[in-house]
Amino acid sequence: MTLRHPHFQNTEGVEVVIAPNAGACFGVVRAIKLGHQAAKKSQTEPVRAFGPLVHNPKTIQELEKAGVDVVEDPDEILEGTVILRSHGVKQEIEAEFKRRGVTVVDATCPLVKKPQRIASSLGKKGYYLVLVGNAEHPEVKGVLSYFGKSDYLVTYRVEDLERIPDSIQKVGIVAQTTIELKVLEAITEACRKRFQEVAVYNTICDATSIRQQEAETLAQEADVMLVVGGKNSSNTTKLVKICKQFQPNTYWIEDKSELDVTWFMGKRKIGITGGASTPQEYVDEIGNWIIGLIESSPQAPVAALSLPPLEEAYGTD
Ligand code: F3S
Repeated sequence: MTLRHPHFQNTEGVEVVIAPNAGACFGVVRAIKLGHQAAKKSQTEPVRAFGPLVHNPKTIQELEKAGVDVVEDPDEILEGTVILRSHGVKQEIEAEFKRRGVTVVDATCPLVKKPQRIASSLGKKGYYLVLVGNAEHPEVKGVLSYFGKSDYLVTYRVEDLERIPDSIQKVGIVAQTTIELKVLEAITEACRKRFQEVAVYNTICDATSIRQQEAETLAQEADVMLVVGGKNSSNTTKLVKICKQFQPNTYWIEDKSELDVTWFMGKRKIGITGGASTPQEYVDEIGNWIIGLIESSPQAPVAALSLPPLEEAYGTD
């Protein structure tokens, strides 16, 4: 399904505006596609995703229906096909799958492959690695495995750089793809002041920051904002927080079944965005539903319909 009107306006001036980049980034689109392809290809053998392919329960259900089960423990994957998710895995885990004869479908985003490759090269060239990011994030754990040595620091705080021994002269800086640019810049500046040689690699992906900027702009103009995405998605959580700062009438939904017509009562401009892990068609589906609502009752879109309000109040975090 594609959206009938990316920017809809009726004769009464009631508008529906979708943020231009709302919805899944190319890495997530690719991972979902590879998941469905793997399920189609493997008729008899099991197909597993090593961890959820995307933080969106509806998409996971669709993949399960197609035959892709989510498995969290790598030791449970002994045969068949395994799909590696977009933020990558430790290289030893991938090697172990191959050793067992499991077919590996690598859905690691190409933008995550980049810091993996750079970390590997820095390790071989004798650099101390400063990985700007969150040590608990699977992407960071994966990148570190490619560095392959123990002389590294993972941080997003300048003060932690004091933990690097004074004997270090060559420092290589790599960033987690979703880290903020100003964090990378602050770490870089501090390293340049202290170390003789500093090699910096900006491996940040701007997919999330673009969605955040667009959400901020749209939330300032709209009378009501809808954010479409998994309740377990951290990038969607961030979008909701940003939107609420500028528009208190912000609602977070995963699916159109959660829509409540009273949200739109008397509103002239309805803004919609979706997280980087939300398939585009979910965002379009919401947009089309609202456009249909407005078209059915141009002057008072809500009055003509009497859908029951939902018991649960959304958007209260
Ligand atoms: Fe890749 Fe960036 Fe998405 S790293 S998975 S395109 S957020």
